Amino acid sequence: MTIRGEQGMDQLRIPRIISGAFADAPHASGREAAIYGKLVAARETEASLVAVASFKRIVGHVLFSEVRIDGEHRRWLGLGPLSVLPKWRRQGIGGALVAHGLEAVRRDWDGCVVLGDPAFYGRFGFEHDPALVYPGPPPEFFQRIVFRGPAPQGTVTYPSAFG
Ligand SMILES: CC(C)(COP(=O)(O)OP(=O)(O)OC[C@H]1O[C@@H](n2cnc3c(N)ncnc32)[C@H](O)[C@@H]1OP(=O)(O)O)[C@@H](O)C(=O)NCCC(=O)NCCS
Repeated sequence: MTIRGEQGMDQLRIPRIISGAFADAPHASGREAAIYGKLVAARETEASLVAVASFKRIVGHVLFSEVRIDGEHRRWLGLGPLSVLPKWRRQGIGGALVAHGLEAVRRDWDGCVVLGDPAFYGRFGFEHDPALVYPGPPPEFFQRIVFRGPAPQGTVTYPSAFG
């Protein structure tokens, strides 16, 4: 299993990985693969990593795009979607994608938010901060990790591709 940055032809294969991963996810909107396509088209993907198994088969993917805080660019990213194909789960691939992704973006960004299960994301240092707000879902599912600088306060918005 290798984790590496997305390369040219991967863009054709990643949507299938995303839809395959989210097909059985209870919280899925069904739009996750389309969101990836829109972000690519808008050149709004900041980091995109794939997990590659034998025979160069892509079995997982993670994406980072810039979020705004109170409408401003603050050098903060949003992690998501994160996808691992059902057959390949519970072997650490999702965790490896998150860990490698955070390592890849840490130098150039000030922090990252994620909407997801705190039991999964907490191990990487993500925490809920009541001062950083994402309206809608239960607040504890919205978490952030600070790479540098003060922890920001405000309301987070994702790129328009997320709808
Ligand atoms: C969420 C998702 C990416 C996790 O991928 P994964 O490859 O299974 O992730 P990991 O293997 O790193 O960790 C998952 C669990 O397996 C456990 N695990 C990891 N390696 C393991 C191993 N060798 N043996 C048994 N369990 C293991 C982890 O401890 C973790 O446990 P948890 O359920 O208590 O959190 C995957 O389930 C998925 O694509 N889901 C659908 C889409 C989705 O929900 N994406 C996230 C949106 S926020």
